[in-house]
Amino acid sequence: MSAETAIGIHDLSFRTTSLVLNHCELARSNGTDVAKYHKGLGQHAMSVPTADEDIVTMAAAAALPLVQRHGPDRIRTVVLATESSIDQSKAAGVYVHSLLGLPPHVRVVEVKQACYGATAALQFAGGLVHRDPDQQVLVIASDISRYDLDSPGEATQGAAAAAMLVSADPALLELTGPSGLFTADVMDFWRPNYRATALVNGKESVTAYLNAVEGSWRDYRARGGLPLEDFRAFCYHQPYTRLAFKAHRALLETCGARADDDVLQQAVAPTTGYNETVGNSYTASVYLALTAVLENCSDLDGRTLGLFSYGSGSVAEFIATQVRPGYRSHLRADAHREAVGARQPIDYETYRGLRLQNLPTDGSWYELPHQTRGPFRLAALRDHQRIYEAA
Ligand code: HMG
Repeated sequence: MSAETAIGIHDLSFRTTSLVLNHCELARSNGTDVAKYHKGLGQHAMSVPTADEDIVTMAAAAALPLVQRHGPDRIRTVVLATESSIDQSKAAGVYVHSLLGLPPHVRVVEVKQACYGATAALQFAGGLVHRDPDQQVLVIASDISRYDLDSPGEATQGAAAAAMLVSADPALLELTGPSGLFTADVMDFWRPNYRATALVNGKESVTAYLNAVEGSWRDYRARGGLPLEDFRAFCYHQPYTRLAFKAHRALLETCGARADDDVLQQAVAPTTGYNETVGNSYTASVYLALTAVLENCSDLDGRTLGLFSYGSGSVAEFIATQVRPGYRSHLRADAHREAVGARQPIDYETYRGLRLQNLPTDGSWYELPHQTRGPFRLAALRDHQRIYEAA
């Protein structure tokens, strides 16, 4: 293919869970001043999965509208990024491939590096499309974040899946220029195989994240990346949305630029709307930020957006994307607002009950109650297998 052919995100869709816990309710139950959540963390609510929802059902629900709009025929690869996977061997994407009825001539793989995984998947997809511009790659980021009950991280939990169709001549965004990369071996956040919840050194994780913002930006610029003033907005990974503002302040200081409130608002505020009510969706978080800015701003034709992806442990990448003229007619804002708005509010006791519910691990037949409002569900467990079905 010619060196000039644009490659990038042709379509983008996200879904979340059927339940939501509001932070006013969380604050009421644990005696925290809700201003800490609203102002200190920038979080208002968190998505909570029903018993029959998981990363597979969310991933399939997010990807379904893409397959319906574009058809399955050109999809040759599915890459699902997650850090809350359901199997140590089989890729979650194989279940998604089946639920979506994709053809057999497709490769399916799962990738992991904490919240950064989906950006690695996007780069992988870009390389495949570069080799074969006729193929489309379905990249899915799907995660449920869980910290220990009553821990500081609890208020930053959340869940969502974002699905992206990567292709040549994309309708939404072109991936442009170099990548700024930064890897550091730090123990800021991790989850050993035997644990269902993450371990975190909260304050160190924030420092590691901010170091990675500076490190990846410096690498980006050293490789000929665009200067700060060429960017219209910056989509940061948002474990809680306040951190995106801190990250941008750090970036402006690195560049020796003015960091007043107007500048921060203009560059970051249009990106936080979904994440402040969905919570940390790990791999999907930065792509919910990207979705938000595309839907919130009508002046993006031809403009450049920065994307900072961070995964604890840690690996980070800064990339620039150029918005394609006419992008607005390809967006799915109504469906996204509906997905977020249709969640059923639950009280703290219900949330806690769901968190303490464990699925059997003895291989016995176990049917799950039908609770999801989404199009797919985990219907049963049998012989240590997960049985999914259209809801
Ligand atoms: P904490 O100890 O609960 O909170 O932990 P705090 O005491 O640090 O307060 C948070 C902010 O609220 C502070 O503001 C307070 O001043 C403010 P800051 O100093 O940051 O500007 N505050 C208030 N504001 C208004 N009114 C009040 C009030 N009270 C306090 N009344 C922490 C916070 C983030 C550490 C915790 O939630 C946590 O451990 N979260 C999980 C880890 C995390 O999200 N780390 C982020 C970076 S690492 C990352 O992004 C990767 C990750 O997504 C995983 C992956 O890659 O896979 C997590």
